[in-house]
Amino acid sequence: MSGRYARIAGVGSALPERVVTNDDLEAMGVDTSDEWIRSRTGIQARRFAGEGETASTLGAAAARRALESAGVDPGAVDLTICATFTGDQPLPSAASFVQAELGVTGAAFDLAAACAGFIYATEMGRAQIATGGAETVLVVGVEVLSPLLNMEDRTTCVLFGDGAGAAVLVPGDEPGIIASELENDGRHAHILEVPSGGSASPTSPETVARREHYIRMADGREVFKRAVRGMSDVAGRLLEKAGLALDEVSMLVPHQANARIIRSVAERLSLPPERVYIDLEEVGNTSAASVPIALDHAWREGVIRPGDLVLTAAFGAGLAWGANLIRWTAEPPERA
Ligand code: ACO
Repeated sequence: MSGRYARIAGVGSALPERVVTNDDLEAMGVDTSDEWIRSRTGIQARRFAGEGETASTLGAAAARRALESAGVDPGAVDLTICATFTGDQPLPSAASFVQAELGVTGAAFDLAAACAGFIYATEMGRAQIATGGAETVLVVGVEVLSPLLNMEDRTTCVLFGDGAGAAVLVPGDEPGIIASELENDGRHAHILEVPSGGSASPTSPETVARREHYIRMADGREVFKRAVRGMSDVAGRLLEKAGLALDEVSMLVPHQANARIIRSVAERLSLPPERVYIDLEEVGNTSAASVPIALDHAWREGVIRPGDLVLTAAFGAGLAWGANLIRWTAEPPERA
């Protein structure tokens, strides 16, 4: 690794107002129960975006909090990366709308790596700072998944929620974002997808009638198994690459898809539960937003503190997965 170091100066998150509990889903007519969802996933509630809440308003709200906690002026941002597949519109990028909401300038683009999006975007931001391509990078993970949920498909609609998280990356004297590992296996691209609305199958009355504009998961059990294997393997490889041991990791902050997936990853890594952060009970799976929301919650709760070695890991559609190893540098919230 050559060039300058990059570190996280601050984090922030934003969730929509509307809370949707498992009981609410049942009341909305979904053939499910609080008991089933809790025991299979650990999720008790999620947020759904309401009137006026979009990927850009949530993304910008999370970014504002991250900039504030970092003590960085929005005018300093010269690169905005938005990890999302649910931007305000197909064109232009969600990052363009976030930029406009914040009044920031510089380069901006979206990055599509589904649930692993924030992990990928953090590594891209690190690399830009390391090579001198950028000074202050705003990395936003945001999803508004609720419009993509088929409420008649109980195998998917109970899993997801809406939200945004953000991190401000700046140059550092020592490695903050130490290293990352990124993977993708396109052979399984169709296992988790939104089948229509792209160039292969543009939206039409027929695709809508076939409900192809919604998220579809071909095999939940297979995704479960691959997620456990993918996240634990990539975390192990990343530690080896960085020359660090698992004992040195203060906290694993994983993608919040399912408490059983997270516990299985922790078991495979031999990490005790107190070194694994979970906030999915009230948030659900927010795809690219899940890791930055969890980082923000863990930081605000004092669970991660300056000097801690934080390991992130995520897995999702693509199939894409990855992990970052971060020496935490953001000051505790009371001093931020
Ligand atoms: N409520 C009630 N019953 C349900 C529900 C529901 N919401 N969903 C499925 N069931 C039923 C099924 O129909 C099935 O019934 P049957 O036995 O009569 O056929 C039964 O429950 C068991 O279904 P399984 O799919 O075997 O349940 P499983 O224990 O595997 O849990 C789950 C399903 C939660 C989806 C699990 O496989 C999982 O979490 N997979 C990972 C998927 C995931 O997280 N995807 C998100 C994107 S990828 C990522 O973020 C990692």
